[in-house]
Amino acid sequence: MNSPSPQSAAAAKHEAALLRAERGVAALAQSRNDRWYPAFHIASDGGWINDPNGLCYYHGRWHVFYQLHPFGTQWGPMHWGHVSSADMVTWRREPIALAPSLQEDRDGIFSGSAAVGDDDVLRFYYTGHRLLNGVEGAGKRESQLMAQAHDENVERLDKLGVVIPYPNDRVDEDFRDPKVWKMDGIWYMIVGARTLEHRGQIWLYSSADMITWTFAQVLFEHPDPNVFMLECPDFFPLTDARGERRWILGFSAMGAEHHGFMNRNVNNAGYLIGSWTPGTTFEPSTEFRPWDCGHNFYAPQSFSADGKRQILYGWMSPSSEPNPMQEDGWCGQLTLPREVTLGTDGDVHTAPVEEMRRLRADDVALGTIDLLRNEERVIVDDARTLEIDLVLDLKRSTAERMGIKVHATNDGDHTYVAYDDQIGRVVLDRRATARGDRGYRTAPLDAAELSHGLVNLQIFLDHGSVEVYVNDGHQVLSSYSFPSPGPCRVILTAESGTAHIAELTLHHLNGIGLD
Ligand code: FRU
Repeated sequence: MNSPSPQSAAAAKHEAALLRAERGVAALAQSRNDRWYPAFHIASDGGWINDPNGLCYYHGRWHVFYQLHPFGTQWGPMHWGHVSSADMVTWRREPIALAPSLQEDRDGIFSGSAAVGDDDVLRFYYTGHRLLNGVEGAGKRESQLMAQAHDENVERLDKLGVVIPYPNDRVDEDFRDPKVWKMDGIWYMIVGARTLEHRGQIWLYSSADMITWTFAQVLFEHPDPNVFMLECPDFFPLTDARGERRWILGFSAMGAEHHGFMNRNVNNAGYLIGSWTPGTTFEPSTEFRPWDCGHNFYAPQSFSADGKRQILYGWMSPSSEPNPMQEDGWCGQLTLPREVTLGTDGDVHTAPVEEMRRLRADDVALGTIDLLRNEERVIVDDARTLEIDLVLDLKRSTAERMGIKVHATNDGDHTYVAYDDQIGRVVLDRRATARGDRGYRTAPLDAAELSHGLVNLQIFLDHGSVEVYVNDGHQVLSSYSFPSPGPCRVILTAESGTAHIAELTLHHLNGIGLD
């Protein structure tokens, strides 16, 4: 009998690792506690997830992959989980796509992206993570590897090995998260790197064939010497209202210190708007702006799906302890998909993709509502999931703070979303949240928004989270919110003054099919 070829032995090893991972997820899913499991956010049916990966549209389906630890509810050896959808509304689970099996990825299949070649092959670029002595803390090696979809169903990925080895003499361990795109006939890849001097940089590579990659240049170095690594870099053009092309450079910065309202999470994801032409470094023309001002947002990835829309998913990172999801057999969810645009104000806006409207089961229009000084008014007796669209009229209100309490249970616990007139910001306050970390986060309103005086809040309430889109995605706040058992009320609130709510509409939402 012939002995198996090295290729088929490697493929069999990968298959066996995928099978073990499927069993790991299934074991956790079997005893899952669903008290906070999402109805309309992507999550694994068991295990830990983090960054969205490999986002793409291919042969009539949307594909979302994500960092997955299939054997526990904490971060661990990374795999890629996978879901797909024909309409971006309802989703189905796909087999786990990638598991550690090669020498170079033996300790983790880290983050990466997808690109469809001119030959219509769907290729994936990911970071292989290898611990030098097989244990954390003893040094690591990160290199960029490639895989491709076996066929158009994308149920199986074939690994093709290293395309960019670890640059030993230029990097101190961290070198990861390739993002690939094509422009003017050339393939480009960016990778986040921590230099020997511990500066966070983004490196640019180019390729003619998607396989052989040549280092082009350092695209960007973070000006803050505390920032030692830029994870999950992203880079794409958008056209502004005047028809000019602007480049958006996104990254998840490690090491930035918090000050004032900024950088309040463990690590913080945001972007710069600027200009770029191939052969030059990126020239920012704005300050660093967060993609999302909430407690739980990190490592987003965007993709240009149909050549028209730039769509972004983030990971709702449970960045601080306590993290009560970990008791439930699963941990972590992605945000809703958001379309990234440049507004007439020149700013980046990220609003839920229009497909999200198709989740609405009904429209409950409650019209205009006036609250008396210090009034609290229950508008829903029990809803753990809901879309709440309201317009606050600042000019016809006198309240110091006015807004809405959600996940409000009999024990007085709730999460509070409000406009705070003293600071001119939208606040997501978890001081009275039932479980998990507390504290508050805020999103700014600019001078034009304040003088206009009508603030639109679109709030997506899921079993364990709140996402608040301010003025059609000019700002967003995403945070976990873990209610106590029992009925969950929604309560309008005016503090120390009156509130005029110009418009209020509720929508019950259908699930996305992943429960
Ligand atoms: C960001 C990150 C990435 C890495 C992955 C590992 O959350 O640290 O840089 O590829 O997660 O899970």
